[in-house]
Amino acid sequence: MNDSDDDSLRPATKLVQGGRRAEWTGDPRLGGAIVNPPVWRASTILYDNIADMKARGHATHDKLYYGRRGTPTVWALADALTAMEAGAEGTLLYPSGVAAIAGGLLALLSPGDHLLMVDSAYEPTRALCNGLLARMGVRTSFYDPLIGEGVADLIEPDTKLVFLESPGSLTFEVQDVPAITAAARARGVATMLDNTWATPLLFPALAHGVDVAMMSLTKYVGGHSDAMMGSLTATKALWPRLRQGAYQLGQAVSPDDCALMLRGLRTLDVRMERHGANARVIADWLAGRPEVGRVLCPALPSDPGHAIWSRDFSGASGLFGFTLKGANDAARARFIDALDLFGIGFSWGGYESLAVPSDPASIRSATKWSDPDPLVRLSIGLEDPSDLIADLGRGFASMKGNG
Ligand SMILES: Cc1ncc(COP(=O)(O)O)c(C=O)c1O
Repeated sequence: MNDSDDDSLRPATKLVQGGRRAEWTGDPRLGGAIVNPPVWRASTILYDNIADMKARGHATHDKLYYGRRGTPTVWALADALTAMEAGAEGTLLYPSGVAAIAGGLLALLSPGDHLLMVDSAYEPTRALCNGLLARMGVRTSFYDPLIGEGVADLIEPDTKLVFLESPGSLTFEVQDVPAITAAARARGVATMLDNTWATPLLFPALAHGVDVAMMSLTKYVGGHSDAMMGSLTATKALWPRLRQGAYQLGQAVSPDDCALMLRGLRTLDVRMERHGANARVIADWLAGRPEVGRVLCPALPSDPGHAIWSRDFSGASGLFGFTLKGANDAARARFIDALDLFGIGFSWGGYESLAVPSDPASIRSATKWSDPDPLVRLSIGLEDPSDLIADLGRGFASMKGNG
């Protein structure tokens, strides 16, 4: 049974139903079914005879052909993610979020093409533009995340793609995605969005005009800080090109990791609700602290991105930032080092809270990050928010005195 392609189902139901096709789980009427698609590990796939082998050489995405093309565990995850985006043709899986970004850009861009990249993008995304893509002859212009429909003025004859990330994962600007995608589409330019912060649960990207929705599944979909993966979910028009690109680059993911991702996906709805609620309690508390300059969290009515966020998103996840008023780097390090419940480490979206320093000023090129106060980014987990607040209080206490 799998009704997850039924668009009448609500998102939480689709998360539960997704990818559980009877051909993979068994059928209760024919000797029984298991709940989860099993882990099918494979490199070699065996054929009945040469005619069969030749016929399956032209196999579609979800027919056994060779291990690199996936097995039912892989297709089950891809199916479940596709079902979350109305209007999507399919989903491709990559070994990390960065691999998904690279896979999309390499498949869609050619030497001589021009790319419009948001200035608030995740740093490795910028590094790809300034490194590998530049060497290949792809030219990148960075644009102001708040440009909205003004992006139209930056589109050149060779512009092939506008890349968005909303909210920016360090600085949390909310982009006017419908305005940007409409302006791009009117000029025949494709759009790709890093939707890792919201996931399709809080922001169905294709319904907002995006052509390719990217996620680092490592974050909220996995949710348990124990596996890495990335995805691209695309419209019918771009799907064949992306799939061909993934095949030619030899991208493959482990079925064991797909099983972990599917396990995470089933509880995404309840986890996101709690991440968002906990983050809101903590953001409100931080906004009232004398040590805090600004809280960068679109869910707060005082945030400059709040109006667009409340228009377009159905909720917030647990990632946001705040500045330490008048503090220096050493005081910020003392603050973070004093935290017990917050881990110090990269990534986010797991069940456990994390804190990291971040320094956007040196990364930007199209816009200026002029806030002199040091920035801390928090990934709020599933702990009781009162315990997290007590922990942050210890951090503030540690900033007092000696330099
Ligand atoms: C916004 C954003 N996109 C993409 C990635 C890359 O994902 P991965 O770590 O799975 O390569 C990250 C990782 O931190 C991220 O924050």
